[in-house]
Amino acid sequence: MDRRSFLKTGALVGASLPMFTFSCSDTDFEPLPTYQYDGPLGPPRTFSHGVASGDPTTDAVIIWTRVTPSDLGPVQVFWEMATDQDFENRVAADWAQARQSADWTLKVDVMGLGPGQTYYYRFFAMGRQSIIGRTRTIPLETDEVALAVTSCSNMARGFFRAYRKIAERDDIFGVLHLGDYIYEYGGGTGATPERDPFPRYDIVSLNDYRTRYAQYRSDRDLQAVHQNHPFIAVWDDHETANNSWKDGADNHSEEQGSWADRKAAGLQAYFEWLPIREREPGRIWRQFQFGDLVDLLMLDTRLWGREQAPPFATPGEVAREERQLLGEDQEEWLLDNLTQSNAVWKVLGQQVMMAHFRLGLPPNEVFINGDQWDGYARVRERLLNHIETNSVEDVVVLTGDIHTSWANELTIEPVDPEIYNPETSAGARAVEFVTPAISSQGLESLPPTLVERLQSLNPHIRWVEATKNGYYRIQFTRDSCEAEFWHLDDVFDPRSEIQSARKFRVDRGESKIRDITEA
Ligand SMILES: [Fe+2]
Repeated sequence: MDRRSFLKTGALVGASLPMFTFSCSDTDFEPLPTYQYDGPLGPPRTFSHGVASGDPTTDAVIIWTRVTPSDLGPVQVFWEMATDQDFENRVAADWAQARQSADWTLKVDVMGLGPGQTYYYRFFAMGRQSIIGRTRTIPLETDEVALAVTSCSNMARGFFRAYRKIAERDDIFGVLHLGDYIYEYGGGTGATPERDPFPRYDIVSLNDYRTRYAQYRSDRDLQAVHQNHPFIAVWDDHETANNSWKDGADNHSEEQGSWADRKAAGLQAYFEWLPIREREPGRIWRQFQFGDLVDLLMLDTRLWGREQAPPFATPGEVAREERQLLGEDQEEWLLDNLTQSNAVWKVLGQQVMMAHFRLGLPPNEVFINGDQWDGYARVRERLLNHIETNSVEDVVVLTGDIHTSWANELTIEPVDPEIYNPETSAGARAVEFVTPAISSQGLESLPPTLVERLQSLNPHIRWVEATKNGYYRIQFTRDSCEAEFWHLDDVFDPRSEIQSARKFRVDRGESKIRDITEA
C-alpha cells in the first residue's frame, strides 16, 4: 500500500456543509474512515443517476453523484477514492450530506491527489453502493493530450450512442462538452416515445430544469461516458433557452416569468448536475493547463457578456457594429492568456462557430447566422488581430452548437486575396474544428448544390458535413494536432456503429488544415 501524502477534501459543492480537511504524515497518521451503516436499507435505485467526475487539475478532481431519497431529509453519503478498482489502495475517503437544497446531488472536490494519475471512486448511502467511476488528474508534463469533443445531445431526437462510443475509448484523457447538454423544449417527437421530454412542456422553473437533468442522466449511454471519463464542460443556450444571451432568449416570453429567474434556475440546476467547479457565481470561463503542451481556455460566449444577436441574414454593416460576445472582463482574460501562454497549443473550447459564413460577397455580404461570431464581427476581429499582432502561434478553436462537422481556417478576411490565400493558407491565424451533435438534428434539408456554392463564397471552410451525428477526437503532440471525426451510421439505432469519417492534421507553426483521411 502506497504511503499517503497530504490529503484533504474540499468544499462540498451543493451540500451546504463546512469544509472537511484532514492530513496525514509519517508521525501523524489517521486511517481513512470506512463505510459503516446499520440502518434500514435504502431503495434499490438509491443511486439511479450514476456517477460523474470533472474539472480535473494536477492535484484535484470533482466527483459527483445523486441520491434518490426516500423522504425530504438530508442523506448521509460516504465516498472513497483509490488507485485501483478493488479499493485496496485508497487515497481519500470521507462523509458528506446530500440535501434537498441541491436536489440531493453531491459534489466533492477531492484534493491532494497526484498528477497524471487514474483514480477510481464510489459512493455509499443507506446501505447501498453506487457504480464505480474512473477519473484522471492532469499530468505535470506530457507530450500528448487527446480529448473527445462533443455537444448537442437532444434526448428526444435520437439515441446517445455516440456517448457510448466515447465511453468505450481508452485513448482519451477526457471529454470536452461544449454545451446543449440538455434541451429545454417540451413536446414529443414521436420517434422514440420513451425519450420524449419530461416534463412535457418547455422547462422554466428550477424544478423543471432539475427534472429534465434527472431524465437525461437516467440514460445508460450518458451514464457510461460519465462513469469512464472526466468531463470539462461549458453550457450553450439550451441549458437555459434557445438563443439565449445574458438578458434574454429567443425562446423566452414574458408569460414564462422573468428571464432573470429562469436563467438563475437553469444555471443552478446546471451546477448541481454537472461535475464542474464553481469558483464564482455564474462563471464557467476557466483555464486548464496540460504542462507546457496545451493551454485549454474554456469560454462562455452565451450568458456571461453576450448582447442580443442581430436577426437572421443581417447585412454585414449591422453585424459589424460594436456588440459584446464575451464581455469586457472575459475578453481581456482571453487575450491576456493567449499572449502569456508558454504552451505549444493555445486551445479555445467554446460554443458558437467562429469562422465567417456568408451567403454573399462584401459589400453585399449576408451572414447566415447572427447568433455565431458573425453577429459579433468586431470581437472576432479583435481576437484575430491580437493573435497576429502578438505573433501568437498554434491557436486551435474547438466549437459546438450547430450540429454539423466543420474544419475551418480562421482569418481576418477570407475573401480578400491580400489577407488570405486559400491555396497556401497564408494569412490564416488559427484553425477551428466544429463537432457534430451527439443526437441533435443537423441540416438534412441543405441541398448539396447550395453547400458547393457556399464553399466557393467561404474558401476558408475546408470541409463541412451537414447531416451526421457523432463527435471528434483531437490529439495534441509537440509536432502537430490531429482531429478525427467519427460519424454514427444511424442515430435512431440504439446499437448503431460509428465510422471514422475524416481526419485532419495541423502542423506546429502553421494554421493550415491538411486532410490526412486514409482511403
Ligand atoms: Fe444544439
